[in-house]
Amino acid sequence: MRSPLAASCACSYRQNMAVNGTLVSAESHSRVVIEQASWRDLNILRRLEQACFPKDAWPLWDLIGVLTLPNVVRLKAVIEGSMVGFIAADVRPSEHIAWIATIGVFPEHQSKGTGRALLLACEAQLVVPTIRLSVRASNLAAIQLYLSEGYRKIDVWYGYYQDGEDGLVMEKQR
Ligand SMILES: CC(C)(COP(=O)(O)OP(=O)(O)OC[C@H]1O[C@@H](n2cnc3c(N)ncnc32)[C@H](O)[C@@H]1OP(=O)(O)O)[C@@H](O)C(=O)NCCC(=O)NCCS
Repeated sequence: MRSPLAASCACSYRQNMAVNGTLVSAESHSRVVIEQASWRDLNILRRLEQACFPKDAWPLWDLIGVLTLPNVVRLKAVIEGSMVGFIAADVRPSEHIAWIATIGVFPEHQSKGTGRALLLACEAQLVVPTIRLSVRASNLAAIQLYLSEGYRKIDVWYGYYQDGEDGLVMEKQR
């Protein structure tokens, strides 16, 4: 899930959270809101990339792309006005598929349900029957999240990541 969108994008908890103003889920003690992201989030998205993906953060151009290109679902998790997480999906209607291009939550906000909330909110906006993503084979937390939400491993991209690590391709049919 570390590929830029143009290349192919292969790359909630249970309390009070809002999607575009509608309450759906939250972190343990804080209200988390899921909102549409935009180019205005570029600076905080750069910091999130560095925090979440120190080995292969996207360059600036790809971050601008994910915040501006058409056919991209882009959502942010917000606590008290600050973005704490982000997800983007590249939708390819003609192929009846969407690729989750990236998902990340600042380390200090992880393991509180925000990643799952972002994933579910993003899926809800995808109109295609098939969702795919790629994930580092060693990223057990993310893999566990995807498995628990119905994704299954369908392929391995050997040596896909810059440091040579394999990528697992996971797919959800619905
Ligand atoms: C992957 C990531 C987005 C998950 O976000 P999160 O807010 O921490 O996840 P949640 O709190 O919603 O947890 C959802 C599920 O993920 C799994 N999970 C989360 N953290 C975990 C950990 N430290 N160890 C094992 N599983 C974990 C669990 O299955 C969890 O469900 P549970 O709470 O019912 O056990 C977050 O860890 C992250 O930003 N990681 C760095 C960036 C990254 O690797 N992105 C994925 C690229 S493919």
